Amino acid sequence: MNNEGERFRPIWIDHASDVVKVIDQRALPHEQIDMTLNSVEQVIFAIKDMVVRGAPLIGVTGAYGIFIALKNDKSNDNEAYIKNAAEKIINARPTAVNLSWGVNRMLTAVLSEQDPTRRIDIARRVAGEIAEEEVENSKNIGRHGVKLIEEIARKKPGQPVNILTHCNAGSLACIEYGTATAPIYAAREKGIDVHVWVDETRPLNQGARLTAWELGKYGVPHTVITDNAGGHLMQHNLVDMVIVGTDRSTYTGDVANKIGTYLKALAAKDNNIPFYVALPSSTFDWTIADGVADIPIEIRDPDEVRYIPGAPKSRDTLLVPENSPAANYAFDVTPARLVTAFITERGVCRACESDVKRLFPEKC
Ligand code: MRU
Repeated sequence: MNNEGERFRPIWIDHASDVVKVIDQRALPHEQIDMTLNSVEQVIFAIKDMVVRGAPLIGVTGAYGIFIALKNDKSNDNEAYIKNAAEKIINARPTAVNLSWGVNRMLTAVLSEQDPTRRIDIARRVAGEIAEEEVENSKNIGRHGVKLIEEIARKKPGQPVNILTHCNAGSLACIEYGTATAPIYAAREKGIDVHVWVDETRPLNQGARLTAWELGKYGVPHTVITDNAGGHLMQHNLVDMVIVGTDRSTYTGDVANKIGTYLKALAAKDNNIPFYVALPSSTFDWTIADGVADIPIEIRDPDEVRYIPGAPKSRDTLLVPENSPAANYAFDVTPARLVTAFITERGVCRACESDVKRLFPEKC
């Protein structure tokens, strides 16, 4: 694992050997294992099988995938080879827009140079820049988002601010501060009393396994709850705000995130609880206006629903009757009308086209 200062990184380059390493998130929280990515096939496997996951991290991994591809090129047509590798990497997972964003940015950078050897150096440098930008974005999301937590803290002196989150949008999903977690970590640094309700996030349990693990590592008070508990907690004034991440948000304000997010947004609306979505600009889709109709939703292996994974070296447990089929929709879309605001690296804005474009005028 790579520790840069106080927060850890789920991907890094080992400069001595010039290889890309990641934390194998499948093994957490039981074991901390690093994996080396040596080939495009390994990069695709790591993204598909969720060795790495979370939108910004998938984007950075895709970017490093281009670096790895270039290092391995033995073809006599470097440009055709790299375009083919890029397409395969982009197709590894469909929902997080960061993947195509990161890979396409790399393609533009490396193809501006003709010499294949120099292309490798450009790829190493630009992938690193993308990673550093995501670190900066996360810090700024924290800086802007913490004001929302402070506002609530002022209204309930002596009591913790209770924040509900879904899935993992933390250091493991991004780089260092995370997105949904960034305001929470910033609040802790300011000494604000916070407590996080962690949705377990069936079926792969990114909340129970990953968010709980990293909040624990950073000393943030938290409680893991079943995915269906949030509504009850909201009805009983036990949730002050919801903050989630996103895998792709439209410029009109619709938000794709881990399956179950939409139900949390509905419950928050019914209980008058603010529902915030934290995201870097790399997660905006500037081409899609209707998220429910047009954001591609990943459908994963039904066995992820049918079986409960065991701890390392123990067998998975079949949860359903042997012959019962299952469906595994990995994401849903929360319409803009249910989102109180976006927390971005440039500030907080309403989830609507005019406000988003005001923050990011260069994208219009
Ligand atoms: O399937 P995953 O684990 O890659 O999904 C991740 C999520 O849905 C996160 O909440 C989202 O990516 C935001 S990460 C900043």
